[in-house]
Amino acid sequence: MSERFAGRVAVVVGGGHGIGRATAEVMAREGAHVVVADADAQSAQEAACSIRAGGGSAEGHEVDATDASSIGRFFYALGEGGRGVDVLVNCPAHATDTHFERFTEGDLDLDLTVTLKAPFLCIQAAMPLLLKSDAAAVVSVGSVNGLGAFGNEAYGAAKAGLINLTKNLALRYGPHRVRFNVVAPGSIHTGSWDERMAAEPDILDRVSRVYPMRRLGTVDDVAAACAFLASSDAAWITGTTLTVDGGITAGNSELIAAIFGEEFFQTTFDERPVA
Ligand SMILES: NC(=O)c1ccc[n+]([C@@H]2O[C@H](COP(=O)([O-])OP(=O)(O)OC[C@H]3O[C@@H](n4cnc5c(N)ncnc54)[C@H](O)[C@@H]3O)[C@@H](O)[C@H]2O)c1
Repeated sequence: MSERFAGRVAVVVGGGHGIGRATAEVMAREGAHVVVADADAQSAQEAACSIRAGGGSAEGHEVDATDASSIGRFFYALGEGGRGVDVLVNCPAHATDTHFERFTEGDLDLDLTVTLKAPFLCIQAAMPLLLKSDAAAVVSVGSVNGLGAFGNEAYGAAKAGLINLTKNLALRYGPHRVRFNVVAPGSIHTGSWDERMAAEPDILDRVSRVYPMRRLGTVDDVAAACAFLASSDAAWITGTTLTVDGGITAGNSELIAAIFGEEFFQTTFDERPVA
């Protein structure tokens, strides 16, 4: 087992569930002391507990990443406690599933606040601690929605903003050796998909068929990319967006099928079936 985060402190905001939790776990397995910060106090404690039970080092904190004073208190306390911060991972986001024409100002505020304002505030509050690290890295979890049109206009616009924020900060803090990158996942099989499956049992099959890799991603697929970008393996990578999307942004499989037919995806080199 490699120990890419030995001696490092990693703060995972939104680390109580899903992608954040998987990222916290992989960083702990590779030697980090992980600070799980989540608006859901119980999930933050559970994630930290489970990491400790597996032999890792972790603590859980209740933090509302949309609230500047909550975040300010959290990072101030970390600094006062003598902890530096080497890695910051930003996970929270919100996408309101309402048609554009019925989207309210409140829906817009919510999506922009959780998806864009929260990582902005977290990075700003963490900067004094990140600047003390000899090799600091910020990884923000974006989405393919920030790179193209996949519905959810407000969420997509906020994720596009997150990519731009990341590029600006990469330039501003490059001279101080703090790196900033985005991981942009496609559809990841998390709890929200299981809820949808209750109403639409074939939803996963329909969505999987659209992906070149013919499956949804897993939280571990995304966590591995977050860990890579946060580690010294990515020491000269900053300002970039790494898609973890089974190829969905590489091109349009349905257009290719419309032009060339399904034969395009078949191979005569082996017997593996194409879904
Ligand atoms: N799941 C997917 O299919 C998918 C696809 C693309 C991108 N993403 C992105 O991945 C990230 C994580 O998504 P997920 O599916 O793991 O979500 P999730 O809901 O499983 O986990 C999000 C975590 O963030 C916490 N959180 C929410 N608001 C918070 C706040 N204000 N302050 C602190 N913590 C807060 C939640 O309590 C939860 O623990 C998001 O940025 C999302 O946009 C997810």
